[in-house]
Amino acid sequence: MPPRKIIIDTDPGQDDAVAILLALASPEEIEVLGITCVAGNVPLALTSKNARVVCELAGKPDVPVFAGCDRPLGRDLVTAEHVHGKTGLDGPNLPDPVMALAEGHAVDFIIEQLRAHPPGTVTLCPLGPLTNIATALQKAPDIADRIEEIVLMGGAYFEVGNVTPTAEFNIYVDPEAADIVFKSGTPIVVMPLDVTHKALVTRPRNDAFRALATPVGRAVAQMTDFFERFDKEKYGSDGAPLHDPCVTAYLIRPDLFTGRHVNVGIETQGALTLGMTVADWWGVTDRTPNALFVGDLDADGFFDLLTERLGRL
Ligand code: BDR
Ligand code: CA
Repeated sequence: MPPRKIIIDTDPGQDDAVAILLALASPEEIEVLGITCVAGNVPLALTSKNARVVCELAGKPDVPVFAGCDRPLGRDLVTAEHVHGKTGLDGPNLPDPVMALAEGHAVDFIIEQLRAHPPGTVTLCPLGPLTNIATALQKAPDIADRIEEIVLMGGAYFEVGNVTPTAEFNIYVDPEAADIVFKSGTPIVVMPLDVTHKALVTRPRNDAFRALATPVGRAVAQMTDFFERFDKEKYGSDGAPLHDPCVTAYLIRPDLFTGRHVNVGIETQGALTLGMTVADWWGVTDRTPNALFVGDLDADGFFDLLTERLGRL
């Protein structure tokens, strides 16, 4: 099988960084056409810088990195420095990137790539708010039928929310964008908090990253060291949840994940529930399923894969 062509749409973020590293370490399964950045965990100037920091850490400065939308479709930007630190990539001390941003807007790159490749051969991997993807769908509606699949991190059902009692961060920041994506008719795979909260970097798993004794292994250990304090305090969990790497791990080893094909609607109005992913997990409506909503993973298999692949960089 030739590698799957993907575009990573991202707001790095320590867990975004690990997701990108996993993809770049797996050229047999994944060909990264480009990385498109969006405002989310931190403002766009930082996410588009951090993505380049990560490419250079991986030794892949040739991957084109584009800046995209700097704010949600119709709302003020909400950021998450309280989780990710003021740079978005707090933890390791990584050098500023030498590589320049690619010319052009991320949204135009997404449209051009989908039109340039045969239909059904490019997968989009959003790891942040869905602003770039929704803008591309609005600007070029023809691309909806050309996308192979959208595999995204966002939402929650059993875990309900992390940024509000009922909403997960990526969906909450731009619910109108998420609504457009979930209504696009494109095949969607969702990695919600229900599964990502089971991908926890426990102490032995963090030690395994550090024991790689490489710049990548050390940086990932330091990132997860930093990132874990928030979830440890909040949930009393064993370590940092690696939300976004669930997306790139799924592309390599879908057998590690299980879920249900259900209808997912996005709440865009609710005073208390803005950004909620209303997943019909129990099939109590006749709404047509529009997404594979993942609920569980083989966590040991996931961390074995991640550690082995990071060791290749
Ligand atoms: C998501 O929000 C961000 O903070 C993480 O990078 C992840 O994409 C988890 O809710
Ligand atoms: Ca993210």
